[in-house]
This record gives sequence, structure tokens and C-alpha cells, in this order.
Amino acid sequence: MCGIVGYIGPDEAAPILLDGLSKLEYRGYDSAGLAIYNDGRINIEKAVGKLANLSEKTGGGSQVKGSLGIGHTRWATHGKPNEVNAHPHSTENFSIVHNGIIENEAMLRRTYLNDVNFVSDTDTEVVVRLLEKFTSEGEAIDVAIMHLIDIIDGSYALAIIDRRNPEYMYAVKNKSPLLIGKGEGFNMIGSDAMAMIAHTDTFYEIHDQEFAIVTRNSVDIFTSYSKKVDREPYKAELDLSDISKGTYPHYMLKEIEEQPLVLRRIIGEYQNDAGELTVPEEILADVRACDKIYIIACGTSYHAGIIGKHFFENISGKPADSYIASEFVYNTPLLTERPLFIFISQSGETADSRAVLVKIKEMGHKAITLTNVKGSTLSREADHTMLLYAGPEIAVASTKAYTAQVAVLAILAVAVKNKIGIDLKYELALIANTIESLCSDRELYKRLAEEYIAPSRNCFYIGRGVDYYVCLEAALKLKEVSYVQTEGFAAGELKHGTISLIEEGTPVVAIITQYNTHLNTRGNIKEVTARGAKVIRISTKGASSRRDQIVIGDVHELLTPLVSVVPAQYLAYYTAFLRGCDIDKPRNLAKSVTVE
Ligand code: F6R
Repeated sequence: MCGIVGYIGPDEAAPILLDGLSKLEYRGYDSAGLAIYNDGRINIEKAVGKLANLSEKTGGGSQVKGSLGIGHTRWATHGKPNEVNAHPHSTENFSIVHNGIIENEAMLRRTYLNDVNFVSDTDTEVVVRLLEKFTSEGEAIDVAIMHLIDIIDGSYALAIIDRRNPEYMYAVKNKSPLLIGKGEGFNMIGSDAMAMIAHTDTFYEIHDQEFAIVTRNSVDIFTSYSKKVDREPYKAELDLSDISKGTYPHYMLKEIEEQPLVLRRIIGEYQNDAGELTVPEEILADVRACDKIYIIACGTSYHAGIIGKHFFENISGKPADSYIASEFVYNTPLLTERPLFIFISQSGETADSRAVLVKIKEMGHKAITLTNVKGSTLSREADHTMLLYAGPEIAVASTKAYTAQVAVLAILAVAVKNKIGIDLKYELALIANTIESLCSDRELYKRLAEEYIAPSRNCFYIGRGVDYYVCLEAALKLKEVSYVQTEGFAAGELKHGTISLIEEGTPVVAIITQYNTHLNTRGNIKEVTARGAKVIRISTKGASSRRDQIVIGDVHELLTPLVSVVPAQYLAYYTAFLRGCDIDKPRNLAKSVTVE
């Protein structure tokens, strides 16, 4: 997690870095810091808490002069979020910012830095101290960087400046994201393109175990063996309006309401010249050749994966299962003879998922990554990529990426084998319209959140089949942004234990979209109502009953997760809003989880 920005050029660096960091705050927001070179010195400014505190402390950056600098927003892993542990970390000559985890820091301290008094609790300080040591022992900076790559285990994206060489900035990468932004007369380093897009749309990738030497006018990338890499820059398809809130009070609300647009974009991107939804033949060949699909993901993406399993089994007749990455990697189930892996990751950088990818690649298995971020680690390391085309998702709570994941899984399942003859293009277009009409009911969701959920300590989502799968996602959404403890349950399981939690006034949200089970779920609603629960019912028209508060237009029964999740996203949003929570940046969370 953590966000990194660096700038070298003719302009004042600090305001540019603060602006870049504001686009990266989703990666962490425990503390922030800047290191700016000026007149033979590196000036450090740090502040605990949100970036706004650092901005206020430095007059929006205007009080820190200099046109070479690096900046950081932190999501604490080693040591408390305080000013000492905030990045940049410095020695006499170097300042560095780091995203990742140095796994062998204890060994490095013992072996190389036994006589050093560390000032912070961070693993990052080990890196800057090693750099100072190696260069003071006579290594040139590029040699010292290669030395670091050689001895450090773990993940790192590093931006480095050296007081003695202010015409250079250095970037080093292993398993944590880092890009170089190519400008005219300036260059930048950033954790992602959004941090730099206000200045340039042209980027160089740096791969694992590579480093870059960056000046105002040049970018030279090297492997850890000092071999110069010949790599063309690419243009990012991002524009500033994608990453601004526009007139919305929060990114989460904006992203919920972008879902129809995202679905239409997915239709456009996945259709061929004849207007049919297609998937490249080489991907289909790999899926068809397997005897089981193993879907690997975390959090919301895992919830999309469970729906994917439902699609593969019901639409393509292909056995599939969805697994939590952090479980799968250390408790790998018995695999079938010809497994195929599908990784689902909005960011494409999630360390838990990547650990599985590394493991299954070592075993020689094929992998497809579904991701929102072109060129991300999981995309590069898999055999195939299917992009989500959701546009940048800035709110920490995932909304539009989830629907994009579910839609792309449906496209893949239909392309593999359309056993049920579904007209997916028509259905997705219908769903986009249906979501649009759901978006016009904001007041209803707000009123329900106010009356039922916001005053409560806890809440339950119940449903059966795909409705249960959506309940898991709906519960995650509500608890992560509003801090109301929420669980999603299979409605039929209530009587086997959970129903003991129901008290007078407990909010229960029931999702009812499946004809074969709607009567059973309604029976379960009666059971909780009889024990004092206050129930919100979200149903599709065909499965609705007179007293349901939220009734969604009918869509294909297999695809109802794409619509039933939307009111749940709104309920989460409005509950968090009414409880005064920091909706886009819930406490303790970061958008891109690059540590295991
Ligand atoms: C919750 C949420 C997380 C992510 C999870 C995986 O709203 O966003 O649960 O889904 O951290 O992230 P990705 O999809 O980037 O691998």
C-alpha cells in the first residue's frame, strides 16, 4: 500500500508532489511526508494523519522550495503512524520513500548494520542506511542499488534522492507498483498513473528487480545486472475527469452511479466487428482445455468470483470454485488433473493473490487475470488478461469494479459455452438501464438507511443461492464503510444458529431474486420478523411481494447479482454518510493491498 511520487524538473516540486499524493491517498493515509532538495540540503516535512495536514503545514507546498523531490502517503505496517515512522527516511546524504515490506530486515540489520542506532521502527530505514553504507564504502550509486536488489527479500517500490547528485532521481521496483512519468523537460515517478496524469500521459513500466535513473530529460532503466533495458513508453488512457469527483460529494457515490456507463463500456470493448461479444480464442482454448476453473481473489473480488463459479457451472457447464487467495496459498486444496486459474483483482497488485499466482506458475499451470489496471503485476505475470474497463476506482470500497468483474466473468462464461442460449449483450444492456433507474431512487435508500440501519450496532443480510453470494458482498460493503457490524447469511442457515442474534429492532436486509427459492426466503423473513427484526426487502419484480420496499426491474435470473447489489451499495453509502464516517477512506483500510 502506501503511495509514492517523485518529481525532477524546472518547477517547484512540493506542490506537484502534494497534488500527486492527493491522487494516491487511497493507498494509505496514516501519515505523509516530503523530501525536497534545495541548495545542497534535503528538507524533510512530515505530518501524521491525512495529507491535508501536510499540505497545511507546508502552505500547500509553497514553503518548501526546490525542484527535485519525493513524497509519500503511508499505510503503516512496521511501527505506529507517527512522524518518526512517516516517510521519507533519510541519512546524511539520501532520502527515500518506500512502498512494500522488507521481509529480511532483521537479517539485514544483523549482518550489515549492527552498529547503527535506528531512529524509526520501520523496515524502510534499513534500506536507506544500507544505501549510505554501501556508497560510503566506495560503491557508485547504481552499484549500491544493484547490491540492494541482490540482498533484499520482499516487496519494494523505492524513490531515492541523493544530496550530492541533485540532477538525478532513482526508482527501484520489486513486487510493488511503480511507473515513470515521461514529461517535456521534467520526469516523474509514481505508484500509479493517476498521480502523474495532470502532468503527463506517457509512462514507462519498470519491472521487478529493475531500477531507473531519472534526470529532467532522460529515463534509463536497468536490470539488476546493470543491463540497460530498451523499453518504449506507453500512453495511458486516462483523463483528469476520470479521477475527479465532479459534482459528487464522494467518490463512492460517483462510482456507484457510473455502473451503467461501465457496463456499456464493457459491451463496447468486448464486441467484435459484427457486434457480438467475444473473447480472444487463445483464452477460450485454455478454458476449454481445463477440467476445473479455480478462481482466486480477495474481498469484494472474491465475492465476484463466487458469482463467476455460478456462471461457469450454469452457463458453460464447467466445474469451478472460488477461493480466498490468502487461504489457498498456504492451504492449497487437492488440484484436478488439468486446472486453470482465474485471478480477479481490481488493482492487479494484491499481494495475497500474487502469492498464489507465483505458486501455481511454479507448478506449471495456466492463469488468466481479470483486472482493471493494464500492465499491473497480476496482469503481466498471467498468461492472459481480460480488462474490466471500469475506469479508475478511487473510493476504497469497491463498487463499479465488482459489477465489471461480474460482467466480464459472464462474458467469458458465455464465450466458453453458451449452454443456455442467453443473449448476453441484450441482457447487459438491459441491466445497464435497470441500474440507471435504480440510481434515481437515492432518497428511498437514504430513508431506509436512516430508519433501519444507521441507528443499529449490527445488521444482517440474508438470501439464497446467488442472492446469498450478493449478501456476502453487501455485508462487506456496509461494514467496511459504516462500521456497523454486518454479516451475510444463507437464509436457510439462520435457524441453525444465527437466528439467536436477532433481537427487537435488529435490521435484516433480505435479497430475493430467485424464483425457485423466493418463497423459502420469505419464510425465513417471517421467522426473523417474529423475533423482532426490522426487515428491508430487496426483490426483483417477478419475485416481489406487495410490501417489498425496493423492487428492481426483472433481468435474466442468472444475472441478478449485477442489479441487486446496487441498492445494497447505496444502503452502505447512506448509512456511512448518516453516521458521519469517512466514506471514501474507511479507517485502517487501503485500496491496494500489496502486503500479505
Ligand atoms: C472492498 C474491497 C476489497 C478488495 C480486495 C481485493 O470494498 O475493495 O475487499 O476487493 O482488497 O482487491 P483487488 O481486487 O484489488 O485485488
